[in-house]
Amino acid sequence: MKKVTILDLVAAKNDSATLTMTTAYDATMARIVDDAGIDCILVGDSLGMVVAGHENTLEVTVEQVAYHCRAVRRGAPRPFLIADLPFMSYQTSVEEAVRNAGRLVQEGRAEAVKLEGGVAVAEQVAAIVAAGIPVCGHLGLTPQSVNAFGGFKVQGRSSAAAKQILDDAQALVDAGVFMIVLEGMPRELAAELTAEVTVPTIGIGAGLGCDGQVLVCTDLLGMNPDFKPRFVRRFIDGYGLLRGAMTEYVDAVKSRRFPAIEESFSTPTLTKESDSSPEHRVEEG
Ligand code: KIV
Repeated sequence: MKKVTILDLVAAKNDSATLTMTTAYDATMARIVDDAGIDCILVGDSLGMVVAGHENTLEVTVEQVAYHCRAVRRGAPRPFLIADLPFMSYQTSVEEAVRNAGRLVQEGRAEAVKLEGGVAVAEQVAAIVAAGIPVCGHLGLTPQSVNAFGGFKVQGRSSAAAKQILDDAQALVDAGVFMIVLEGMPRELAAELTAEVTVPTIGIGAGLGCDGQVLVCTDLLGMNPDFKPRFVRRFIDGYGLLRGAMTEYVDAVKSRRFPAIEESFSTPTLTKESDSSPEHRVEEG
């Protein structure tokens, strides 16, 4: 499969091709995702919740995103790779925003960065884009504003709130974003926004009217039995399957059924005196 570039993502808007995106945080998952043919991987600040077990994304740092992003790039060379600018890494100033976006490209090997907000961060977006780094926007239920929202709540339900999101989207497009993630908003609003903007939109809890969809990898794999919001579809019971395998392993070890003879080594048998060099050693089955 061919390497996905920003040109493929942007072209999808006109081609009416539906874009696929998921998150990944390590090389092992990234390899699976790449192999499955995904267009785009997001190293989201959701890693604070998924990897570190925090209750929100606010403690995540640029270093952590860069570390996980580098691991994901090693596992998945083909998909387009986007890294999240974490909370307080871009809100404080335009200079900070450009410097931290640069770090995610240089240290994390990301091909683009994502940040949350609209009009309020348009200056930062324009400056990062001017530095040659593609920017993906993120509107609606933006998790870095969880405290301002009073929880992870669907946004844009009133006509004033919907209008603000539409204005934010236009501000992001004017500032130069190549794509916008729409999270946790009424499907009618997401569809209207998608029809209005010239860049592709990627929905999560925003209905079918977007140009593509993103889900957190562990959500779509059913890895957390306690988390099943309306917008998540579990494509597998990952938790149940992995737990079952782990239980079997524990049982096999305790009952001394693991390892078997075939899963262990014996003292090497040397075929000839001259075969004693490491290259000529014959490993017993
Ligand atoms: O951090 C993240 O994983 C995200 C997606 C949910 C879009 O921002």
